[in-house]
Amino acid sequence: SSVQSCDFVLFGTLGDLARRKLLPAMYQLDKAGLLHADTRILGIARKGMPQEEYVAAVKEALSTFLKEPLDEGTWTDFQQRLTFYSTDFTDPAGYAGLKEVLNPNSVMVNYFATPPSIYGDIGRCLQENDLIQPNTRVVLEKPIGHDLASSQVINDQVAAYFEESQIYRIDHYLGKETVQNLVALRFANSLFASKWDNRTIDHVQITVAEEVGIEGRWGYFDKAGQMRDMIQNHLLQVLCLVAMDPPVNLNADSIRDEKVKVLKSLRPINQDNVFENTVRGQYTGGFLKGNTVPGYLDEEGANLDSDTETFVAMRVDIDNWRWAGVPFYLRSGKRMPTKHSEIVVHFKNPPHNLYRDHYRQLPANKLTIRLQPHEGVEIQMMNKVPGLDSSTRLQTTKLDLSFSDTFKNERIADAYERLLLECMLGNQALFVRRDEVEQAWTWCDSIINAWENSNEPPKSYPAGSWGPVASVALITRDNRAWEE
Ligand code: BG6
Repeated sequence: SSVQSCDFVLFGTLGDLARRKLLPAMYQLDKAGLLHADTRILGIARKGMPQEEYVAAVKEALSTFLKEPLDEGTWTDFQQRLTFYSTDFTDPAGYAGLKEVLNPNSVMVNYFATPPSIYGDIGRCLQENDLIQPNTRVVLEKPIGHDLASSQVINDQVAAYFEESQIYRIDHYLGKETVQNLVALRFANSLFASKWDNRTIDHVQITVAEEVGIEGRWGYFDKAGQMRDMIQNHLLQVLCLVAMDPPVNLNADSIRDEKVKVLKSLRPINQDNVFENTVRGQYTGGFLKGNTVPGYLDEEGANLDSDTETFVAMRVDIDNWRWAGVPFYLRSGKRMPTKHSEIVVHFKNPPHNLYRDHYRQLPANKLTIRLQPHEGVEIQMMNKVPGLDSSTRLQTTKLDLSFSDTFKNERIADAYERLLLECMLGNQALFVRRDEVEQAWTWCDSIINAWENSNEPPKSYPAGSWGPVASVALITRDNRAWEE
């Protein structure tokens, strides 16, 4: 499909997400020639300001958050697209003037970069002003609630004004180049397609380690914790793409149907098995890349009694035909030694070891998908060391496909660029359907409740380490080890 002209209506245009991610993404799309000539950005904020001041604020945001100098030619074009509009988001009367600034020939794409508590108000105001057409779209950010019940309230409020086919729920991990490549890797290569189940795979590890702490977001994060902030969405989405059955085609609902099936197959974790299968941690002060960093409870605004986890490690079992007996180990934390996200698929050993005189156990094949940084794909395999001295000297070697070396002239787009483009194209494949959100919450709620009922505090780990020692025990108990 081709690019349509859109009125991209950005509620919360002066906020952090808009400044950091959304405006830079629109700028990059413009630079790449991917915006229709008539596409415009309507920035909406409560605070009033003259148009010039808004344009200057956008320029400042771009200069701050783009990883490259602002391209003057692109900026000249981009600033023509900007219009500022000020209103109280919850007052229908304030939206009256919006109609005049909208282009009747454009598709209206509303981006709610606001707290979810006012999604319903915005929907009502748009509807009362007769601004919602069948082709109008709405983009929602996480968190969609903090548990199943609250997510249903939010989803119901939005559903009162928009059909599911108009709703684009963002999980920015789905927009990452490497996460999309995972689908290509699995389904465009018979080598993997035919070797992707419990007959050949021993286990899978998914690590999303972050170097940052909570970056002044105590108010949000302390109520959420790493489970709600990262596992419920990003890690489960990645797990779904690794584990799902082949979709019938690449259409949005075909893919989402398969992901929901995985979520429904996750073995429940509850008070009976929670400490066997999960470890939660909270960082204390430590040393990271040569700097001393404060502990979670020393962060600005901290509540000293907080039991919120900043790290989670878990063993997840998928009770279906394909994955019976193949554990997925998940690990995600703040203040880890480095920012580093990857999926590692560990294959089983060959059925019989011909090299047993030299190797009690052959190192297993491993497929590593590096999500970030150093995006790429790597396969560990055994090779004979060349030479006449020995016919049985082997060595582990790597086939390493680095995206930056292989695709030298291609820049790796930020996830939001891809997602905003897909939304303007009207393709929901990279967005999360309501039943996925609900299924993911159902599974996570059970774990969170079990933690809460146990009254067991999170285990501490020093900032700059790979998490509490108990997370090592979680996997070594199964005779396996975390990737370094
Ligand atoms: C966000 C979380 O969704 O993802 C943050 O709210 C987290 O806490 C971020 O830091 C990580 O995203 P990325 O793209 O930097 O891995």
